[in-house]
Amino acid sequence: MSETLLIIEDEQLLGSELMRHFRHAAWDVVWAKTFKEARRHLFDRELDPLVVLSDINLPDGNGLDLLDEVRQHGGRGEWVMLTGYGEVPDSVRAMRLGAFDFLTKPCEQDHLDLVINGAARGARAQRRLQDESENRARRYMPESFTGRSGPTRKVRELLTKITQVPFSALIITGETGTGKGLAARIVHHGGARAQGPLVEINCAALPHELLESELFGHEAGAFTGARGRRRGLLEQAHGGTIFLDEIGEMPVDLQAKLLKVIEDRSLRRLGGEREIRVDVQVLAATNQNIEEQVRNGGFRHDLYHRLSVFKLELPPLRERIPDIRDLLPRFVAEFNVIAGKKVSVIPDEVWMRLESYNWPGNVRELRNVVERCVLFATDQRFPVGWLQLGSVVPLSGSERGAGIEEDRLCLPLDGSMGLDDMVGQIIEVMLVRHGNNVAETSRVLKTTREKVRYRIEKYNIRKPE
Ligand SMILES: Nc1ncnc2c1ncn2[C@@H]1O[C@H](COP(=O)(O)OP(=O)(O)OP(=O)(O)O)[C@@H](O)[C@H]1O
Ligand SMILES: [Mg+2]
Repeated sequence: MSETLLIIEDEQLLGSELMRHFRHAAWDVVWAKTFKEARRHLFDRELDPLVVLSDINLPDGNGLDLLDEVRQHGGRGEWVMLTGYGEVPDSVRAMRLGAFDFLTKPCEQDHLDLVINGAARGARAQRRLQDESENRARRYMPESFTGRSGPTRKVRELLTKITQVPFSALIITGETGTGKGLAARIVHHGGARAQGPLVEINCAALPHELLESELFGHEAGAFTGARGRRRGLLEQAHGGTIFLDEIGEMPVDLQAKLLKVIEDRSLRRLGGEREIRVDVQVLAATNQNIEEQVRNGGFRHDLYHRLSVFKLELPPLRERIPDIRDLLPRFVAEFNVIAGKKVSVIPDEVWMRLESYNWPGNVRELRNVVERCVLFATDQRFPVGWLQLGSVVPLSGSERGAGIEEDRLCLPLDGSMGLDDMVGQIIEVMLVRHGNNVAETSRVLKTTREKVRYRIEKYNIRKPE
């Protein structure tokens, strides 16, 4: 595909010479002979040239005024200014307006080629960056947090609000696979800092010392092995966002340092004296019960309070089952493209099984299940056989349809079990889990021993041997 070069030049001879030359070099050349004509191309016809080669003094206007106007309207492309007068103030203004280069006539063709090629390279790189960031912005909008359920709608509303206000810190909580990473990307790419960097780090992935130097950076010789100086991730995120995943795993002394960075908006590298200003928005995520961690001293309460001014809680998928109706087609479409399949028929049995499963791995698990099924599909039907959802282990001695699945107790909702039986079942399972210890069982169930004993009697629970 040839790229567009707009030549703005009123001199007939030079203009036609340039046009001939650059056409020959495979450019799609448009030649405007006046200010007005150039304006028409750029604004009325939305020409969007990759490079503009423009004379400054035109009979009906000034090339720099045009560049100024284009930039004010967010126009892209590199501009190379050409003038026969080469006045100093003009070249200064050209540079200030971000012109790629400023050449005086007459200009050697070889030199001009060099400059135009350089401008084209720059403009292409700029375009790529802009396209990428637009793609990301499109991919990560509050609407990309898919799902029709009430809780998910609330999440989307909150995401929309959060992307509209400037804030310094936000905590995202939720079980594994509930979309914390996705939410963080939406907050960054959908917000005012989208043009700035998004730097991610998983606090659980690095040992203490490494995490500290990764985050805060270091000066040469700050510790054994610290050869050169290094900017930390917080510095790299300047003007943008840092996403601290699994913040619950951050050592307590680093939590204190992080709090200081958020409050002072500055930091010192390890072994450094100088305070370096950093303007970052902090997103922190955790799948642990962070309030519990704060209570038992595993997490600093001051940092928690600083982070939780804005709080985004992502409910587990089992509490928003209707979302599956939207998530499933979305993931099917995604994997159809990747695997070159055409799955389009979802049998009722698939819906039924997906909607009655309790999804310990949440949306990530659903996505993985869909991936497997689409990959192994042999026709348009979504294959039930590949669902392989974790099976529920029936409770021994229970004919009541209840079962245990890892850390969960499943109770039938089809009316086959009444409330008393359910409560009895809960106490029975907990007693088994806690070695028949009534005190421990009542503690875990957050009730009193008397109540547990009373219910053992009432529901006639067989104490397991
Ligand atoms: N509401 C949603 N709509 C569309 N995709 C989603 C949604 N929620 C999660 N996903 C997708 O599910 C996968 C898991 O989500 P993500 O990685 O954000 O989870 P997480 O909460 O960060 O998990 P972990 O705690 O394990 O890091 C990702 O591919 C994500 O894009
Ligand atoms: Mg994650």
